[in-house]
This record gives sequence, C-alpha cells and structure tokens, in this order.
Amino acid sequence: MEKNNLVSGMRSTGKLHLGHYIGVITNWVKLQEEFNCFYFVADWHALTTKYDKTQTLKQDKLDVVLDWLACGIDPKKSIIYYQSKVLQIAELHVLLSMITPNNWVERDPTLKDMVKIIKNKDSDGNDNVPQLNYGLLGYPILMSADIMAMNAKVVPVGIDQLAHLEITRDIVRRFNNIYKTVLFNEPKPKLTETPLLLGVDGQKMGKSFQNDIKISDDEDTTAKKIMQCITDRSRARKDDPGHPDKCEVAFKYYQAFANYEIVDQVECECKAGKRGCADCKRQLGKIINDNFSIIRQKRRELENDVNTVLDIINEGNKKAAIEAEKVLQKVRETVNI
Ligand code: TRP
Ligand code: SF4
Repeated sequence: MEKNNLVSGMRSTGKLHLGHYIGVITNWVKLQEEFNCFYFVADWHALTTKYDKTQTLKQDKLDVVLDWLACGIDPKKSIIYYQSKVLQIAELHVLLSMITPNNWVERDPTLKDMVKIIKNKDSDGNDNVPQLNYGLLGYPILMSADIMAMNAKVVPVGIDQLAHLEITRDIVRRFNNIYKTVLFNEPKPKLTETPLLLGVDGQKMGKSFQNDIKISDDEDTTAKKIMQCITDRSRARKDDPGHPDKCEVAFKYYQAFANYEIVDQVECECKAGKRGCADCKRQLGKIINDNFSIIRQKRRELENDVNTVLDIINEGNKKAAIEAEKVLQKVRETVNI
C-alpha cells in the first residue's frame, strides 16, 4: 500500500537540546517506517522573528540537520530539506493568502504569545518597540503552505502548534470549497505522548533561557549541567526522605533516559532517604552521557564531512521540490492562474 505523506518542520534555532530529542526527534525517527516523511528546516519561519539576526542562520540550519542525522533521521527513508529551497511553498503561500480571512490569523493564540515575547524583549534581550510584521501575522499561512505543498495527511506537532494546524485545516476546507475541488487533504495532527522536558532550572527548556542541555554537548558539559538540575526542594539533608514526584527535573530526566529498573531503584532509595541528590545527579549525568555517546560520535563524524551532509540536503531539496511541483501544477490548474 502506498504510504501517506507526513510533513513536519523545525525552525532553524541551531543545535538541538534534549527536549527536542525526547519530544520530537525520537518520534520522527519511528514515523519514518510508517509514512513518507518530509522533514524540513523552517528557515523562512525563523525570519518571522529573527529577520535582523541572520549572521548565524546558515550554521544554525546545518546544525539542526546534523542533529537529525546523528539521531537517526535517515535520508534513505525521509526527505530532508530547507524550506527556502522549495519555491513552490512560497507560491502556494501567496495563493493561500488570497483566500484566508484576516481574522483567522489575527485571533491565532500562538501569535498573541509571540507578540508578547517580542514586545518584552528583542532577541538580544533589550526592550523593543512592539511591532507585528506582516510575515509574522502570516505565520500559520506559511505553515499551511508547508503542509499543503506536500499534500500531507499527517503532521506531528507539539500542543503549542495545534492552533496553527487548526487554521491549516480551515484553509484546506476553504480552498476545496471555493474551487469546488477535493484536491487537498485535511491534515491530522499527531501529538507526541512524551511529556515535556524542563530545563535544568525547572523552567521551559530553551536556548534563550540558557537552561538547556544540547544533544551535541560534550560529556563534561553535560555532567556539569546535570549537577545544576533542581531537585526536591523540600529536602535539606541527604538522609531526609525525598519525593521523586516533586523532583521536577532530575527525576523526570531519569524517567526519560534511564531504564525501568533504575528508575524504580532511584524512586525507592530517594523515598527512603538512602540517596543523596548529588550522587543521584552524578549517576544521571553518566546515564545521559552513555545514552548519547553513539549519537555524539556520529555527529562528530558528520561535522568532519560537511560536504556529504550538504549533498544530502541538496538531494532532499530537489526531491521536495518535485513533490511540491506535482501539487502546484494541480493548484494552478484549479485556480486558473
Ligand atoms: N511552527 C513550527 C514550530 O515552531 C515549525 C513548522 C513550520 C512546522 N512549518 C511547519 C511544523 C509545518 C509542522 C508542519 O515548531
Ligand atoms: Fe531527585 Fe534523586 Fe534527589 Fe530524589 S535523590 S530528590 S530523585 S535528585
């Protein structure tokens, strides 16, 4: 049976962290077996907020792909590409923008959050004049074009992206209605079941909060960052009974990266006051380092062979453009343009 198309993208934020790994990449790797996967770096989307910070963009895009490949996104199974290299996406974005009512994008809750963030600070952390650019307003339309250009049926996303995907489904219905066609599928979201990993300080994990552990961090850096993880704050001494359920970072990392027996042991010893937090985190650092040793090795090999990686991306760009061109030919016909 022909596999269905699946599309997902990540903005080009540079080296990825353990939250991306647990929340997104492990899921993407599995989905490669069941779907025709189109995985892309959303470099146009990155410009919606970082249009004035493009110095590191090229490297950031490459870093994202290096992490994907090291983690097992396989170019033999999936198409890996840069959004900006598939011009059909931009063409579709223009056409979709013609049929999308303003208030659909204006009431996008994610947009409101983004505006709040840029209002408070610019990407250097300075106070900023609040401003909403046309491109940022069009964020969900561009995202719809990403998905519809491959006529995807399935889109793995986090909960934070569900509102966007709802707009995509509305746009699909509107397009099909206006042009009396059944050309586009209504894409279904596929949520990951894994809970969100917090940063070492217990806040949302993110590069800009400097609380993240990168997939590509070396062992020392990882071990040091793990030692900063917050633990059950109610515990004063090592032999006080602990509460793993209140240990929002370290214990959650155990659950994400250690096997079942170890998690069980940590839980019992912690509750019984037989496990100090420092020792516990030292062991955790080691577990995480073991977990990523092969991935990191693979990443170093890829870093030393960037040309091969660029070839993979070029190939992916071409294949994605071929797929999108097939869809766009039908779109142009349908719209009579
Ligand atoms: N908006 C998504 C994010 O910030 C990235 C993205 C862009 C995307 N286009 C997409 C995800 C299309 C899925 C499908 O995470
Ligand atoms: Fe968390 Fe481990 Fe300390 Fe228990 S012993 S509170 S699980 S770090």
